[in-house]
Amino acid sequence: MANKPSDSQLLHETDGFDLSLNRPDDKAWIEVIQHMDAIYADLVRSQVELENKNTELEEAHQFIESILSTMHNILVVTDTASRIQRVNLAFEKLTGKTNLELKNQPLKTLFVKSTADSELSHTLIEHIRTGTLTDCEIDIASIQGEKVPMAITCKAHYDHTGKLIGSVLTGRPLGEIRKAYLKLKETHDKLKMAQQQLIQSEKMASLGQLVAGVAHELNNPISFVFGNMYALQRYEKNFRLYLEAVHQNISTEERDKLRVKLKIDYALKDIPSLLEASLEGAERVKNIVQELRRFATPGNNKHVNVDLVSLVKSSIHWISHSANLNAKLITDLPDELIIKTNEGYVHQILINLLQNAIDAVEHIDEAEIIVALRTSSDEVYLSVRDNGPGITPKDILSVFDPFFTTKPVGKGTGLGLSISYGLATEQCHGSLSVENNSDGGAMFTLTLPNV
Ligand SMILES: Nc1ncnc2c1ncn2[C@@H]1O[C@H](COP(=O)(O)OP(=O)(O)OP(=O)(O)O)[C@@H](O)[C@H]1O
Ligand SMILES: [Mg+2]
Repeated sequence: MANKPSDSQLLHETDGFDLSLNRPDDKAWIEVIQHMDAIYADLVRSQVELENKNTELEEAHQFIESILSTMHNILVVTDTASRIQRVNLAFEKLTGKTNLELKNQPLKTLFVKSTADSELSHTLIEHIRTGTLTDCEIDIASIQGEKVPMAITCKAHYDHTGKLIGSVLTGRPLGEIRKAYLKLKETHDKLKMAQQQLIQSEKMASLGQLVAGVAHELNNPISFVFGNMYALQRYEKNFRLYLEAVHQNISTEERDKLRVKLKIDYALKDIPSLLEASLEGAERVKNIVQELRRFATPGNNKHVNVDLVSLVKSSIHWISHSANLNAKLITDLPDELIIKTNEGYVHQILINLLQNAIDAVEHIDEAEIIVALRTSSDEVYLSVRDNGPGITPKDILSVFDPFFTTKPVGKGTGLGLSISYGLATEQCHGSLSVENNSDGGAMFTLTLPNV
């Protein structure tokens, strides 16, 4: 019976190879195989990494492509010599040329002829060469051969080492911007006109409120001018009768009797005061008409020297005939305060503030409205303070909003303060603020430049 070979025999003699580790050749082989194994494993790893990177690159590429093709604005990438390197879909559509056709074409060839030779074109190309930022308007030739004005922004393009490699130009058809601008302008003009109308109608409303006061004021001087005129007419008749009698050579006795009967001496004494009072009445009528002119001149933006003291007095004078006036109107004013401002608008603001104060104290006992004028070196403060209920913390944030009112329907439109605010800030270059007094009531302050 043959003997089973030992393990060491198998190791040394399998298939005729001798794998003994003790032999130097074998050891080298094994090292080579192990080395190859390691290299292979590295290769496999690198391959996987490469594939991952490729996928990422592919995704990034697709992402950029999709963005470029969905961009509404045009995009052109050039080298520093202004040769086109890449364009987006919007640009392809606009010019009717493909990326491939445009590659390495001079950018200039896409401008309409007049633009291509222009100073502007040279400047843009210089900006591209030097990598400096610029915004400009360029006419590009469209696929139909029409000129399309574009608003272009040109920015430098650097590679990963920071070297300037060209420019990225983005642009938007100006037609759209112009259309949008025109629409905006039209809306703005309409708004301005509506605002002007509002100011005017608000003016008419304050004027309406004043009409009662004006009528009352006019009535006084006119009625005593009338009265005086009737008296003068009577005196004139008596003088005529007396003179006729004197010219008929009547006796001195008869003349004296007639003089007493016709009250000639009394009339002579009365005439100067009648004339004086009539002149004063006429003077007052003239002043009233002048006051009304302040309201009659619309949109007069002129800033002229205005004595705020007389303006306050005249406003108070007119408002004091308001139907619902239930307050003592108190003033705290210097003798004179002249500044350059828009008289009509300040008048209008003050009337609004006074009317609001009058409304606020309508049901208050011992109601008081105090109008005060104070100055600092560069500002003037005109305040209207009342002892009404004041304004709640919530409402105080809204009082200057258009159409904000707490008054019943038909009484307030809620426009007085919002228009006054606009007039104070925009027309008079000042401000209008509100606060509640610590002892109750509200105080509005119109601040104007002390110029
Ligand atoms: N002195 C005040 N005291 C208390 N509340 C006031 C005072 N002034 C204004 N307000 C509040 O501010 C609101 C807005 O005032 P605004 O003058 O803008 O409108 P209005 O007086 O209600 O109406 P309009 O002035 O158009 O006739 C008023 O309804 C009122 O609630
Ligand atoms: Mg009001």
